[in-house]
Amino acid sequence: MRKFLGPDKYQQTEDDKRVQHELRALGKLPRHIAVIMDGNGRWAEERGLPRAAGHQAGIASLRDVTRSSRELGIGYLTVYAFSTENWKRPKREVSMLFRLLVKMLRDEMQEMLENGVRLKTIGQTSLLPKGVQEELSDAIERTSKNKGLTLTLALSYSGRWDLIRAMQTIALEVRSGKMSPEDISEEVIRRSLTTAEMPDPDLLVRTSGELRLSNFLLWELAYSEIHVTKTLWPDFRREHLYEAIREYQTRERRFGLTGAQLKKGEDVVSPEHQSYVDKLISRITR
Ligand code: IPE
Ligand code: IPE
Ligand code: MG
Repeated sequence: MRKFLGPDKYQQTEDDKRVQHELRALGKLPRHIAVIMDGNGRWAEERGLPRAAGHQAGIASLRDVTRSSRELGIGYLTVYAFSTENWKRPKREVSMLFRLLVKMLRDEMQEMLENGVRLKTIGQTSLLPKGVQEELSDAIERTSKNKGLTLTLALSYSGRWDLIRAMQTIALEVRSGKMSPEDISEEVIRRSLTTAEMPDPDLLVRTSGELRLSNFLLWELAYSEIHVTKTLWPDFRREHLYEAIREYQTRERRFGLTGAQLKKGEDVVSPEHQSYVDKLISRITR
């Protein structure tokens, strides 16, 4: 059984190390994982608690997913924390979310520094309360030299907002004569988005069973593999992440080609090895 002793006393077990090693050996790991962290409210309501309790409980999930992603050597983890549309929620819930965000930044700073986690944000953060903006800039600055996992919080973010921003930037360049309309290409759009410095997500995980994108990374998810789990975000832990990665590794990413065209470059994994990893995962999930 994995020991989870609280934020400061975390221990990675031998089983955990083994399953991570096996996942690495089994096939390609996603370089970039995007997560729609959903179901906090339902988790709380099921327990007769206020929605805020669900948001609070979700912090432990983010901590565990960040730790395990870093341990696995995943380069980028991008999590949807607050959408443009979430501004329409009751004022009390919105301000509670930002209070929790500030608390999380303070509580997790030490561990982010020790583990080489680099914090970033995408989204219209200028709309956030000034104090929250300052805490965020400070955390981003303090972790900016870190070389491990890049953890990006999508805050006041929506895919359409980012596309509009990108189009405005490009339009200005065309108007100033730096570029002609014919020069607009995938690459020009890609580098005008707030996600310019990261690869597109290989894997999108959505918790709580909803089958929609809810305006997340609309351009970047064009060819991502999608894993939807019924597990609510506050219940989501590394075991669930391993399951998602395991499933990702069994997918054939064709990018428009035929299966036969892909065969040549394929990673060959023996069925025995796969079932060994499945057993390991079920052992630590117990
Ligand atoms: C996700 O959980 C967190 C945010 C959107 C901020 P929800 O708050 O959407 O939880 P549900 O979907 O209502 O259960
Ligand atoms: C998506 O969840 C946004 C975040 C997880 C931050 P929502 O709960 O806002 O999405 P919908 O409303 O169910 O599509
Ligand atoms: Mg929701």
